[in-house]
Amino acid sequence: MDVIRIRGGKRLSGKIRISGAKNAALPILCATLLSEGESILRNVPALKDIETTSELLRVLGRRVALDAPVVRVGSSGEANPEAPYELVKQMRASIMVLGPLVARYGTARVSLPGGCQIGSRPVDQHLKGLEALGATIRLQGGYIHAECKRLRGAEVVFDMPTVTGTENLMMAAALAKGRTTLVNCAREPEVEELGRVLNKMGARVNGAGTDVIHIEGRDELDPFDHAIISDRIEAGTYMVAAAAAGGDVMIEGAPLEDLEAVVAKLRQAGVEVGREGECVRVRRDPDKPLKAVDVITAPHPGFPTDMQAQFMVLMCQARGTSRIVETIFENRFMHVPELRRMGCAIDVDGHTAHVHGGQPMSGAKVMATDLRASASLVIAGLTVTEGDTEVLRVYHLDRGYEFMERKLAALGADAERIKGQG
Ligand code: EPZ
Repeated sequence: MDVIRIRGGKRLSGKIRISGAKNAALPILCATLLSEGESILRNVPALKDIETTSELLRVLGRRVALDAPVVRVGSSGEANPEAPYELVKQMRASIMVLGPLVARYGTARVSLPGGCQIGSRPVDQHLKGLEALGATIRLQGGYIHAECKRLRGAEVVFDMPTVTGTENLMMAAALAKGRTTLVNCAREPEVEELGRVLNKMGARVNGAGTDVIHIEGRDELDPFDHAIISDRIEAGTYMVAAAAAGGDVMIEGAPLEDLEAVVAKLRQAGVEVGREGECVRVRRDPDKPLKAVDVITAPHPGFPTDMQAQFMVLMCQARGTSRIVETIFENRFMHVPELRRMGCAIDVDGHTAHVHGGQPMSGAKVMATDLRASASLVIAGLTVTEGDTEVLRVYHLDRGYEFMERKLAALGADAERIKGQG
């Protein structure tokens, strides 16, 4: 397994470009199951999760030509509505083939995604919603069996905003007979983007990106050609990296309008963030102390849980104690023990972490556990001036960050990937 080695203490400067959004590409790839003909996705990032989803679509009978940033998905003529455990266990987002498969073929067998490092992550809302549309759901042998000759529009009220739950039901409803109303939906920009694609396919989706979405289903949907939005979490990650290491960077293609909660907290901490043409400019003088600010994660447009680990590293640089509350997942502080090994002073009490900033930090060998935790360890490595940091298990990083070490090196960081160690 590869290792990323970082020699910290360097200010960042220069310009990088943000890639397409992983969490927009994944549901849109699943949406290709809803129609015949060849769909084209553009601005798709070269990530492991994209490869995994492409492999899954091939198993389901699609012909996939993955040549990032372009993916072409056609039909191979043999539909196989079964998503096997071997692929689903690699990537929980595979659950998003369930809605399209049962809507298109009237039957689906999808392995139940297990839990993962950050929580049990049940899919009860996905199943409850499909039952409301008329599907018969049976759990057996670790698989979800869904049957329904033709889904019928209905009202579905989610118990909590669920991103992939909302997306799964949007896709199922797009081929259901009649009108579906989804209530208490996730409002993430990636949900809104899926709504745009389903409209290109011929469904009538209104309200995607708000908490109530109306979908008029169709008997058939058309293939689409779509360039996906840029990745707000990747952009936020590099903004925090620039703030933590200090410097002056330009980030091209960062969707500032989708990062308001993160930008507000960066500014509160004393970081300069502003739009300059097509770029976002992030400046922070490392000799100027950062202020400790409190953060509570929340569904969009609140502070994203996917930015919590990264922001915690910034708060390790701040003067004073900040309080970080993780409200979305039950176990998303796995980066804390690793940060402690680098000298950070962080107390965890249930869903709340108290970060006592300003402690001297040193480089160490650290282990990534989930996608965003691994990004936070890389950022921590950038900030330490004593000793190298080696981040192990970077396959977590490769799931969601395109060429991270190259982008950091382009900003002047001393970061390199060492193949096959650790
Ligand atoms: C999506 O996961 C993202 N993944 C996650 O990004 C992100 O962290 C998460 O939304 C929250 O923003 C993709 O979009 C592919 P949820 P998802 O359903 O949809 C509970 C990353 O780093 N819940 O919005 O799986 C759940 O336990 C990944 O890119 C149920 O109880 O998350 C959680 O507490 C990590 N039952 C809350 O809802 C359900 O049926 C929100 O989860 C579904 C969810």
